[in-house]
Amino acid sequence: MTDPDSKGPSTRAIHAGVNRQNAHHSIPTPIVRSAPFTFADSADLDAFMFKKVWGGGAGGREEYGREGSETVNAVEQRLAALEGGQAAALFASGMSAFTTLLLAHIKTGEHIILTDDGYKHSREFCLSLLKRLGVEVSVVPTHDYAALEAAIRPGVTRFILSESPTNPLLRLVDFECIAAVGRKFGIETAIDSTFGTPVNQLPLAYGIDYVLHSATKYLGGHHDLVAGVVIGPRDKIAALRDARTILGGILSPDSAYLLERGLRTLALRVARHNDNALGIARYLEAHPKIERVWYPGLESHPDHALALKQMAGYGGVVSFEVKGDLQAANRLIDALEIPYIAVSLGGVESLIGSPAIMAYYELEPEAREAIGIKDNLLRFAVGTEDLDDLIADLDQALAQM
Ligand SMILES: Cc1ncc(COP(=O)(O)O)c(C=O)c1O
Repeated sequence: MTDPDSKGPSTRAIHAGVNRQNAHHSIPTPIVRSAPFTFADSADLDAFMFKKVWGGGAGGREEYGREGSETVNAVEQRLAALEGGQAAALFASGMSAFTTLLLAHIKTGEHIILTDDGYKHSREFCLSLLKRLGVEVSVVPTHDYAALEAAIRPGVTRFILSESPTNPLLRLVDFECIAAVGRKFGIETAIDSTFGTPVNQLPLAYGIDYVLHSATKYLGGHHDLVAGVVIGPRDKIAALRDARTILGGILSPDSAYLLERGLRTLALRVARHNDNALGIARYLEAHPKIERVWYPGLESHPDHALALKQMAGYGGVVSFEVKGDLQAANRLIDALEIPYIAVSLGGVESLIGSPAIMAYYELEPEAREAIGIKDNLLRFAVGTEDLDDLIADLDQALAQM
């Protein structure tokens, strides 16, 4: 597709990265499962190696499946186009994307800054493994831009990593502020935009250097694959691909195919997730058995003004506190008929879970409360079912609770 940046998200999600002249004349990118790729003769091999070593890339073909494949490469181009970035690298999971990004760019003695509201395994990787390798890590409150600046060690800090919206309270960071701090001190910035999706927000457009996703969630969209992606500047993504070849975390062609299939309906699905979640958030906020609703599309959310500024839609996750304790919250979960009880989010099926039990089980209740995770909090990853059915289900379950 010529000039993908001029096209809308639906067109990009359907057409970007497609090789219309592929050898099979197929519309979907073929699943190319080969582990090694063959050469016609030694001259073909010579030409490939010359290009790879001196020409700055493999020139559209691959030598070995750990480095890339037609299927993976095509989905990378589509994801880069969706985020308005130059290039993308796909990984076997969101965690592999995050860890490879850092391992590729950070050295012993350097320093990174995380905001405190991040995905727990991302934080754990930095605070345990990276620290063990001699990388200094500071964790600052997500909305405290003064604390962020104060934590910077000029010449030593290499990365600022944050998420938006965050899990489970859907707090937002101001992309413009984070990018400005990064530029001021010459530090690279990365945003995990998993909860946001490229349909609802485009952090790179604000000057953020890298966007990450757990593609397991909205990008895949059907609860049937685990994948991750980093989108960013072409030269940096090339270096990241080299690190991926060493660390070995590339996505399989089969999962890449499923991801491409999911992406074709990304814009449609996200629009529906947005509408459903806003409808549910409004319904819950008016319900007498609900204490508080967390959804950035609601005027009552602390980051609503920022949501209006940098989001086109507010996403599919609604968190809410019921009036009552953990048992009351559990009774509600058990009475619901449509959502599955499960971790994760972003698929067409609604999922519900208790953050206190599922993600923060290792903390004492007081420690959980200190970070805003109450026992009566539930996280509803709203799917694409009919809104009336989801509300009727909540209605009957709340009556039983
Ligand atoms: C915001 C966020 N980032 C990253 C991850 C990790 O992604 P994955 O599970 O695909 O490894 C998750 C997983 O839940 C997540 O919620």
